[in-house]
Amino acid sequence: MDETGISTGQKNYKILAPKGLKQEKPTSGERGVTTTVVCAISASGIYVPPMFIFKRKRMNQLLIKGCNSDMIATVSDSGWINESIFLDYLRHFISFVKPRKEEPVLLILDNHENHISLRAYELLRKHNLQVLSLSAHLSHKMQPLDLTFYSSLKMAYNKECELYTVNNSVKRISQYEVGELFTKAYNKTANISKTISGFRAAGIHPIDPDKFRDSFENTILDNSNTSQTL
Ligand SMILES: *[C@@H]1O[C@H](CO)[C@@H](O)[C@H](O)[C@H]1NC(C)=O
Ligand SMILES: *[C@@H]1O[C@H](CO)[C@@H](O)[C@H](O)[C@H]1NC(C)=O
Ligand SMILES: *[C@@H]1O[C@H](CO)[C@@H](O)[C@H](O)[C@H]1NC(C)=O
Ligand SMILES: *[C@@H]1O[C@H](CO)[C@@H](O)[C@H](O)[C@H]1NC(C)=O
Ligand SMILES: *[C@@H]1O[C@H](CO)[C@@H](O)[C@H](O)[C@H]1NC(C)=O
Repeated sequence: MDETGISTGQKNYKILAPKGLKQEKPTSGERGVTTTVVCAISASGIYVPPMFIFKRKRMNQLLIKGCNSDMIATVSDSGWINESIFLDYLRHFISFVKPRKEEPVLLILDNHENHISLRAYELLRKHNLQVLSLSAHLSHKMQPLDLTFYSSLKMAYNKECELYTVNNSVKRISQYEVGELFTKAYNKTANISKTISGFRAAGIHPIDPDKFRDSFENTILDNSNTSQTL
């Protein structure tokens, strides 16, 4: 799983969130408002329905008009994930993936402060989820979502935004269009071959020891203490 930002000011998206930058902070004004989207994919081609985190005080059902019924949404002051929202996401993930004792699930995520709380750890243990957290140095090389899916998804999203703004003669989309335009892009992008190629590019499945070795060598150069994360 991984979080990413999608903006209402899509034309400036590249400036707002360069590739590989993990914690782009939502901004407002000329460049638009960023909504966080949390996605998860499996090596076998499964997509966990995404969660939206809108930057605002109160949830409004109009925000998710046009979204698929299995997608979920919440709000936060920052528009970014926090510890309690991550717990909500985990519950959603668990109810969709249904890990069992005989079929535990390995969840690969970034080593981000909001991902590592005692409550998250307890929830994961209780539901047969094992976690592998990737250090920031590894994530751009080993996070399947970043390697194949998110770039196509954002390209498709920007295209939907452009169609919408041209067609409706508006300068930019509002927060109320984000969900629907995202869903159109998501429906067009989220296919099985994208997840399989993401895990292959990461070297996670099928396991590619050469890719792991490259990642480790680069990490060890950057980070003298790697004993806590991969
Ligand atoms: C996370 O954000 C929500 C919504 O803004 C807030 O209600 C909650 O207290 C926050 N939780 C933490 C741990 O910061
Ligand atoms: C553009 O607007 C027209 C008329 O409202 C609508 O029929 C058409 O589906 C729209 N196209 C797109 C790509 O949104
Ligand atoms: C997306 O696909 C789902 C089926 O997977 C469909 O029910 C929904 O209407 C589609 N939404 C859009 C906006 O294309
Ligand atoms: C999956 O989607 C991509 C576009 O993101 C497309 O290029 C590719 O052909 C699709 N693959 C299948 C099997 O539909
Ligand atoms: C590296 O991490 C280990 C495990 O947390 C810790 O015991 C050790 O003191 C750390 N070493 C350095 C040099 O920070």
